[in-house]
Amino acid sequence: MKKARTALQRTAEPLSYHTTMVKEEQAEVLSDESGGPLEESGHTVDSSDEEVEDSVADDMARFEDSFVGINKRYRLINRIGEGTFSTVYKAEDLEYNDYQNRWDIDERDESKWASPKTLRKQSRRAHYVAIKKIYVTSSPIRIFNELELLHDLRDSPFVCPLITAFRHMDQVVAVLPYFQHRDFREYYRDMRIPEMRLYFHSLFTALRAVHQERILHRDIKPTNFLYNPEQARGVLVDFGLAEREGTDWHQCACTLATEERRYRIAHSVYAQTQQSGHQPSAYPKNDTRSSRRANRAGTRGFRAPEVLLKCTQQNTSIDMWSAGVILLTLLTRRFPFFHSADDIDALLEITTIFGRKKMKDTAILHGQVFETNIPSYSEGGHSLEKIILWCTGRTKDDKGNKPELQDDEKQAVQFLYGLLEVDPVKRMTADEAINHPFLAKVYEDNDEYDDMVDLVDG
Ligand SMILES: Nc1ncnc2c1ncn2[C@@H]1O[C@H](COP(=O)(O)OP(=O)(O)O)[C@@H](O)[C@H]1O
Ligand SMILES: [Mg+2]
Repeated sequence: MKKARTALQRTAEPLSYHTTMVKEEQAEVLSDESGGPLEESGHTVDSSDEEVEDSVADDMARFEDSFVGINKRYRLINRIGEGTFSTVYKAEDLEYNDYQNRWDIDERDESKWASPKTLRKQSRRAHYVAIKKIYVTSSPIRIFNELELLHDLRDSPFVCPLITAFRHMDQVVAVLPYFQHRDFREYYRDMRIPEMRLYFHSLFTALRAVHQERILHRDIKPTNFLYNPEQARGVLVDFGLAEREGTDWHQCACTLATEERRYRIAHSVYAQTQQSGHQPSAYPKNDTRSSRRANRAGTRGFRAPEVLLKCTQQNTSIDMWSAGVILLTLLTRRFPFFHSADDIDALLEITTIFGRKKMKDTAILHGQVFETNIPSYSEGGHSLEKIILWCTGRTKDDKGNKPELQDDEKQAVQFLYGLLEVDPVKRMTADEAINHPFLAKVYEDNDEYDDMVDLVDG
């Protein structure tokens, strides 16, 4: 009987570790900004691509020296990712055959039909993992949170499971199955609609499972969804900023009944400033309001309007907006689509599309006021259809005919409106997304898809 190897039931001899914890105030990086979409490296490396740069070899040697015992369990192969909070290495699992490996879905698939001879061969071949070395500057609470959420989501389809985790002194590593994928930058310019259906079916199946556990991922973006177009399968990674819904909630105006919200607005400091004849954009001389604090962790360009407006009761729907930004990127062939320097800039970028009226209403929904004196923003904004046509260079033809989207693009845009809905209550949920005609068509297009989903579901 082989040993089970999960993060909380590890039976193998533990690595030696220190018991003193790094003081949190020394260790915490006060950053809620995950790496920008262009700053993170996340390149595809497969077993044929094992050429290691000298600087990476040095880095891996330093890691092996500092993390006593790691090289007995894993053979480091290459560095495959460098994010804001971690460095990720591809490694061969040297103890694969000593453990049960329920996480290995490829093996599960092949073993179903394999002869005893093939099974013996399988056990001799190399098995790869991704070792995520979490920077020591992350607080212990943050590290524990990531590992705990991953453990809770271990049986969720299309979520990269945690195999195990180790600590050596102040250094923590998470061990995940290695998932071969392609860099988003290699395919976003030419992904076709049928492939988009597969991509989002996979992503929303993962998100539905995560949201069912009332967990917000908070950092949905291409580098955190590792997609393999050949297998039409992706896995969600990086729960470093994830949180349980309800953490630190304070009442936000968006959860009030409409009448109550109207009453509060009518009696707000802002309303009084207006009544006293000031310009709408004027500030009260003595502002007695306390400043608002809300979790705004995430990546610029992917934050939902309510995150930017500091809603204090953010829920799982923030992830749906971010997924919408990925779809907008694919349909417009522009990456990154939004590229703001800060949250105000980000709100203005969204205003360019949705117009002033919608943004004002959205701000009020969360008890905030949105004003801008930039004349170029229109009141009603632009349709997503128009934006996609502009970005893909489809203008009027020689006869002056207006360009149109193709039928399958129109369906994608209708789906996109559900995701890029500024009001979180009206925004599509992951479950609704899976059942939307745009994604339901996955099964019509691909006979084998059913079997694949069953397999990943376990
Ligand atoms: N299981 C995995 N298989 C293959 N590559 C991975 C895996 N996990 C992470 N990576 C690579 O490492 C990068 C950073 O990992 P991530 O968990 O997002 O860390 P960070 O919190 O630093 O952003 C990913 O974008 C991806 O390229
Ligand atoms: Mg990441």
